[in-house]
Amino acid sequence: MTANAMLRQDRRNTNPVFNDRKLKLGTFGTNLDRGCAISTIDGVLEINWPNTLELARCSEEMEFEALVPIGRWHGFGSHTNFNGPGFECFSWASAIGASTKYSGIFATSHVPTIHPVMAAKQAATIDHVTNGRFALNIVTGWNRPEIEMFGSPLMEHDDRYNCAIEWLHILKQLWTRDEPFDFEGKFYNIKKGYLQPKPIQRPFPAVMNAGGSERGQHFAAKHCDMVYVVFGSHDFADCKAKVDAYRELARKEYGREIQIWSYAYVVQGETEKEARAYYDEYVNQKGDWDAAENLVNTMIANAKTLPKEVLAEMKKHFIAGWGGYPIIGTPEQVVDGLITMSKMGLDGTLLNWPRYVSDQRWFQKHVYPLVQQSGLR
Ligand SMILES: Cc1cc2nc3c(=O)[nH]c(=O)nc-3n(C[C@H](O)[C@H](O)[C@H](O)COP(=O)(O)O)c2cc1C
Repeated sequence: MTANAMLRQDRRNTNPVFNDRKLKLGTFGTNLDRGCAISTIDGVLEINWPNTLELARCSEEMEFEALVPIGRWHGFGSHTNFNGPGFECFSWASAIGASTKYSGIFATSHVPTIHPVMAAKQAATIDHVTNGRFALNIVTGWNRPEIEMFGSPLMEHDDRYNCAIEWLHILKQLWTRDEPFDFEGKFYNIKKGYLQPKPIQRPFPAVMNAGGSERGQHFAAKHCDMVYVVFGSHDFADCKAKVDAYRELARKEYGREIQIWSYAYVVQGETEKEARAYYDEYVNQKGDWDAAENLVNTMIANAKTLPKEVLAEMKKHFIAGWGGYPIIGTPEQVVDGLITMSKMGLDGTLLNWPRYVSDQRWFQKHVYPLVQQSGLR
């Protein structure tokens, strides 16, 4: 066996996303300007290397399992151009990976913006840089202007997933097969596919997807190791039913066990009143409602036909934290929110904060010890 072959390890031994903590934690969108808050409040994340590194280090100190960047090529206009400036995910993951030792480091990759041979090679490279902590979040793309920026049209919804099936199949072949292989599909044609060195992780790095549509859920349940769910309603029974249904889909239709994650925004304060005033300020008073409108209109084809109140509520959640699950209140209430998410049956959740850098440090000091005491971690 070569020295490189001996480096390879079962991914459960190298990547903390496979650990057995009751509720795994991560961050979302620390590679993009303003993070997840569509707000003009002072102190939202200004994207630069020291800030994104500071967030990774803070997460690492709490042994967060997942640092998940957002794949974004275009902002949402208005005066903030929300999420316009930002770091490309694979190069971000490589550099963050080289600067950390514990957390699982994700790259979020669009399917149509990168050839699968390149994606497989970059992923394998980062897996070596991180000694087996890399994971891949696959997105098929929905944001028309950013896909068109690459000179190709946005494919019809289900075809995006047909393309993703071929794309991911090629990655897995490259990551696992020693002999060169040919592949001829509808979207890709590979001649003598070859990749060395293989990733550190056996059989290959964890693959994640956030398919929300029926087609997307089947793709994720059949082909991915981890999925995200987005909660339309925040009623406990509805959320739990959604998690249960996803798990059942993977088990019954595909005989697979998958991890199910979601994401939440955390608005914290010494008192509940303080936390709610903070929410009111950065969302109601200083939210960039025009950028939120642009986002909703791009993402949801029939947005203009939705009832006004539904649309306003949706925009509020996007402004507050990219549409995540809301956790608002004192340190004890934040812990209760995380316990509730765990009771929904989630394996993990990504978190984000409006003033990302200072709020995450506050969480580390005032909330995280209580999270540990609660037995969640
Ligand atoms: C936690 C989470 C992260 C996501 N990250 C991205 C991203 O970085 N880039 C992107 O274009 N879409 C992203 N998406 C969108 C999803 O990939 C997906 O397109 C969306 O959930 C709609 O599902 P569908 O594709 O099945 O219709 C994300 C969704 C969620 C819930």
